Amino acid sequence: MTEIAARIQQLKREKNALILAHVYTPPEIQDLADFVGDSLGLSRKSADASVPQDKIIFCGVYFMAETAALLSPQKKVFIPEPNAGCPMADMADADGVVKLKNMHPGAAVVTYVNSTAAVKAVSDICVTSANAVDIVRKLPQKKIIFVPDRSLGAYVAAQIPDKEIILWPGFCPTHHRILAEFLARVKAEHPQALVLAHPENNKNILDQADFIGSTGQMQKYAAASAAEEFIVASENNLLYRLRTDNPAKKFYPVTPLAVCPNMKKNTPEKLLNVLENETNLVSVDTAVADKARQAIQKMLELT
Ligand code: 13P
Ligand code: SF4
Repeated sequence: MTEIAARIQQLKREKNALILAHVYTPPEIQDLADFVGDSLGLSRKSADASVPQDKIIFCGVYFMAETAALLSPQKKVFIPEPNAGCPMADMADADGVVKLKNMHPGAAVVTYVNSTAAVKAVSDICVTSANAVDIVRKLPQKKIIFVPDRSLGAYVAAQIPDKEIILWPGFCPTHHRILAEFLARVKAEHPQALVLAHPENNKNILDQADFIGSTGQMQKYAAASAAEEFIVASENNLLYRLRTDNPAKKFYPVTPLAVCPNMKKNTPEKLLNVLENETNLVSVDTAVADKARQAIQKMLELT
């Protein structure tokens, strides 16, 4: 163990802190975490009242730490790098969503957790990529405004053709760097491999996938599958998790361009800094916190 890793382990015990990390964070961060998961798993962990720690260090992007802070108002939530944003989350604004809502009275606003607290606060319910199809199916409304990811929204719409889904035009720049021609090349090199894809990808990638799911669902699928080789159409740090958990199987990225620069901003040095100095406390504007929390809690109840 490195000196910095040893210091982090010691401090997290002394300070009664839980380290959470998303599967897109760099390997050295995943190795330091108490729990590594997808957005839904991390939300559940943050909301879990049986977790004894009173502090959460959230290694991920800002909306994820903000969600943890909303779900655990009695805990202190810190983020190693407060400028680790999600460009997709920044593509939607609350005023624009309210305008769209007024244009479609009676429609339910379904908001992907990759969004700001202000946008969540004007939404009826949140979803993650793990439960979006199930939740939209369960809602009584036939008309849905889906915010902000047009790719996930289009994927949901294709699964539920009897509902009208109005798409907000947001997207993930990282997943949209995964191009069909790159995938075709990797498939030709590894013809036996199954293709796993995150629903944030463009349709021309999803059309070639053997399995489509959240990062957590891809992990479960790869572990349970009899196949030995997989091409992963998602952020490339997910491959570290897949390779570590399935050492007998092979995982190939589609392109070295599939990197989320904001997830990469999480480093052991910054993690140590928040543990030592208790800086970068995540707080949510009280004007939006209650409503945003309700939208996330509704999601957890329906999942
Ligand atoms: P998951 O919900 O699958 O963990 O994905 C989060 C994310 O940001 C994908 O880009
Ligand atoms: Fe946001 Fe895309 Fe990064 Fe996920 S991978 S955090 S959606 S920019």
